[in-house]
Amino acid sequence: MPELCLGRVADNKKLTETVRALTVEAEAIARRAAPGQFVHIRCGAENLLRRPISICDVSGGAVTLVVEARGAGTDWLARREPEDVLDILGPLGNGFDTGGRRILLVGGGIGVPPLLYAAKKAAGVKRAILGFQTEHRILLEEEFKNACDEVFITTDDGSAGEQGHVTAPLKRLLDRGAADAVLACGPRPMLRAVYELASQYGVPCQVSMEERMGCGIGACLVCACQTRENGQLHMRHVCKDGPVFRGEAVVW
Ligand SMILES: Cc1cc2nc3c(=O)[nH]c(=O)nc-3n(C[C@H](O)[C@H](O)[C@H](O)COP(=O)(O)OP(=O)(O)OC[C@H]3O[C@@H](n4cnc5c(N)ncnc54)[C@H](O)[C@@H]3O)c2cc1C
Ligand code: FES
Repeated sequence: MPELCLGRVADNKKLTETVRALTVEAEAIARRAAPGQFVHIRCGAENLLRRPISICDVSGGAVTLVVEARGAGTDWLARREPEDVLDILGPLGNGFDTGGRRILLVGGGIGVPPLLYAAKKAAGVKRAILGFQTEHRILLEEEFKNACDEVFITTDDGSAGEQGHVTAPLKRLLDRGAADAVLACGPRPMLRAVYELASQYGVPCQVSMEERMGCGIGACLVCACQTRENGQLHMRHVCKDGPVFRGEAVVW
């Protein structure tokens, strides 16, 4: 069962113009959190529905949440200050399977943060490919360099790292036979491209899907996602059955 906690904000650090890293003391959630899981946070009285935010990292009794201010809810959250108290439900969802000898983490934009905790928890050789629009939007590069054996950065405009999409370094690494498992989080078109490429090399790929959410606990069907398992179509809940799915199960 998820925990409902009142978490004290211990820190709010600016990562880019629109992205903040919040450290929140929430011992009951931190103790049980697995990589790829998320929390559901009440974002002020004016926003009725909680907002889902991935667990980026866990340290002692605190979780780190990386929040991009996109709309009313995440904007409210990104402006929280130390000593503010957050109403948090979690950890929710299934999370990544971080087993495997050579893990390849592939993230895009605000999909990058949940892969950091996966990198820290996985054993064996870990490589990360992190894609962003531009240099000013790069997130957590040093943290990934500390957690991984190799880190590759791509930017759409070539202002940092390799110009282009994450699929170019992904293909080179798959050509080298450098991965037994691919874990991906980011925009849906990126997830699809990563899954299709990994499947051409016979490498299993887990994808973390994003859908708008209502309850966050499998009760409202807002987050429905179609899957195909053993030839049968199913409607799954991203909040409860996901957010992580096997790439081949997703109806793209
Ligand atoms: C499992 C999961 C994990 C997530 N982890 C993070 C995270 O670690 N950090 C982070 O910043 N964001 C994360 N998100 C996305 C975040 O929940 C949404 O950006 C947020 O709910 C938008 O709420 P809002 O009130 O700020 O914006 P709204 O005013 O509700 O919407 C603003 C814009 O965001 C879009 N949007 C709303 N909800 C989603 C969604 N679920 N996915 C994609 N786009 C959406 C809307 O279409 C609109 O364009 C996650 C989403 C899911 C489902
Ligand atoms: S958000 Fe209600 S069922 Fe998933």
